[in-house]
Amino acid sequence: MQNIDNTEYIELLKKAEKSVMYVTNRPEIIFTKGEGSYLWDSNGNKYLDMIAGWAVCCLGHSSPVMVEAMTQQAKVLINPSPAFYNKPAIEFASLLTEISCMDKVFFINSGAEANEGAIKLARKYGQKYLNGAYEIITTWNSFHGRTLAMMAASGKKKWENLFEPKPKGFKRVNYNDIEDLKQAISKDTCAFMLELVQGEGGVVAADKTYIKQVRELCDKNNILLIVDEVQTGLGRLGHMFAYESYGIEPDIMTLAKGIGGGFPLSATLAKDKVCCFEAGDQGGTYCSTPLATAVGKAVVDEIIKSDLCNNAKLVGEYFIGQLNKLKEKYSFIKEIRGSGLLLAIGLHKEVANQIKDECMNKFLLVNAPNDSTIRFMPPLNISNTEVDETISILDEICSHIS
Ligand SMILES: Cc1ncc(COP(=O)(O)O)c(C=O)c1O
Repeated sequence: MQNIDNTEYIELLKKAEKSVMYVTNRPEIIFTKGEGSYLWDSNGNKYLDMIAGWAVCCLGHSSPVMVEAMTQQAKVLINPSPAFYNKPAIEFASLLTEISCMDKVFFINSGAEANEGAIKLARKYGQKYLNGAYEIITTWNSFHGRTLAMMAASGKKKWENLFEPKPKGFKRVNYNDIEDLKQAISKDTCAFMLELVQGEGGVVAADKTYIKQVRELCDKNNILLIVDEVQTGLGRLGHMFAYESYGIEPDIMTLAKGIGGGFPLSATLAKDKVCCFEAGDQGGTYCSTPLATAVGKAVVDEIIKSDLCNNAKLVGEYFIGQLNKLKEKYSFIKEIRGSGLLLAIGLHKEVANQIKDECMNKFLLVNAPNDSTIRFMPPLNISNTEVDETISILDEICSHIS
């Protein structure tokens, strides 16, 4: 653990206030160590972490598998430049195409950038094969990232008038409403993009019949289906990819978060028929670095080797069972949502932030994506023991909520 005494702690908080750009309210906690499902702050307090870097640290904090991959790769080659091939990027792209229905992979750094790549690819496809169609339909309550185009794509009402003018060519429809999508499709539409489970939207899942109808509608109208699996991919829902549990195949898929296990990495993946970029259409200084892709490959190899999809499924089922017991006990709990290890408590009351703060005081980290939802997105290798610990703290807190 990084040793920080009280004087240094106070100094650091002062420096943070002076020099760190304000973008959100942060608690006055400085984390200094992470291991497995736990984080330690500078006072030596140990927190059970059900946020995991925002659904990112799928192997837990400072996973030895990642540390080994990072150290070995850093010693030999960090970045030869994006203009050249490198071994880890080729091997990782090859692995991802083997385990998914996708044919080609483009690596970049964040979820928003992977989604930007998906939109660019769909628009290029529209230009080449769909008479110049450019419009992307997305869903209300969705979250696709924080670049200007992804803010335009996301279905967050709060963002409607922020940073105007935003890029044009996005249209929103209601989630799980096939009629709304039918009405929205026009000769200008090149793609429909959605999350199969809206994560930031509060863990709201798409219906299976809706997704089957979406696939049929996209095929009938000759438009592309893009699934944003930034949060749902890589075992989070108990399947390697969420689309598997819906019995459909997308044309384009984006991955981030879990793909790097905490290291910045993301990917835009597509079927061969869609891959129509020409030289110079897509790129980036840090696309396909050997360091990031070596870590990503080690993470995915570990997910496969330790069957973490199945662990997420089994521990998730146990978690849901325990959360349902809380629901029976406390009438302000409306419902339990989600699957695998992307779970949420839906509340009748707007007390999610209060519960989140009380959890933090008891050294449990959970997330409140909105006023009436508590979300859990822990490492995929947790056991029922961590679930029991979480439930016992939540139970104690819920018993004081009137
Ligand atoms: C579904 C989804 N798409 C995109 C993003 C944006 O990813 P990033 O923050 O890495 O840009 C997120 C982040 O929470 C997400 O949940």
